[in-house]
Amino acid sequence: MTAEETLAQIAKDVSVCTNCALHEGRKKSVPGDGPATAEIMFIGEGPGFHENEQGRPFVGAAGKFLDQLLAQADVTRADVFIANVVKCRPPGNRDPLPEELAACDVHLEAQIRAINPSIIVTLGRFSMNKFITGAKISAIHGQMQKVGDRFVIPMFHPAAALHQPPLKPSILADFAKLPDQLNEARKALGRKVVVVKKKEAVVPQDEKPQQLNLF
Ligand code: URA
Repeated sequence: MTAEETLAQIAKDVSVCTNCALHEGRKKSVPGDGPATAEIMFIGEGPGFHENEQGRPFVGAAGKFLDQLLAQADVTRADVFIANVVKCRPPGNRDPLPEELAACDVHLEAQIRAINPSIIVTLGRFSMNKFITGAKISAIHGQMQKVGDRFVIPMFHPAAALHQPPLKPSILADFAKLPDQLNEARKALGRKVVVVKKKEAVVPQDEKPQQLNLF
């Protein structure tokens, strides 16, 4: 089976999965989206209302912000694979339970094996905890580290940054570092290095620290 066929099979398995109780509220499962050749894989938390309706990850407000963040890194959705730690919506968007994370991990692991990305960007603490335990996201966000055969970059969840505006400049700056980090990862993994143009973090004007007006 090609990696693409494997991903299609995983999506099929996920659509009929009954490994945990989340399937009971499932309208559409959200296996994840993107090419099997993606060098970067983003892993969020779980589908929300809109994702459960459409069967695609990050299509609501957090998804719109994620699109802006991807632009900050000079990539589009077509370049990356986007998945979640749980593939069915937790009721009322509550946090996924440990047993749900454990039950769904078989699907996520199969996706990671099929894609074999150079970098996994974790969005939020549930995804971070799968790879890095005992860390505080506020202390290590944006810092790339080697985990097994690849690199992991923990980042704030886009929804957290939407709800807590002071986090926004940090998440924008973290995404702006991604092209350089990808080249660093490629070099370390012996993959082809492509020089990408550097982009400054674009911090919206209204979020820049206020200058003291002396006059
Ligand atoms: N939040 C997530 O973590 N994943 C989605 O797919 C949508 C919102």
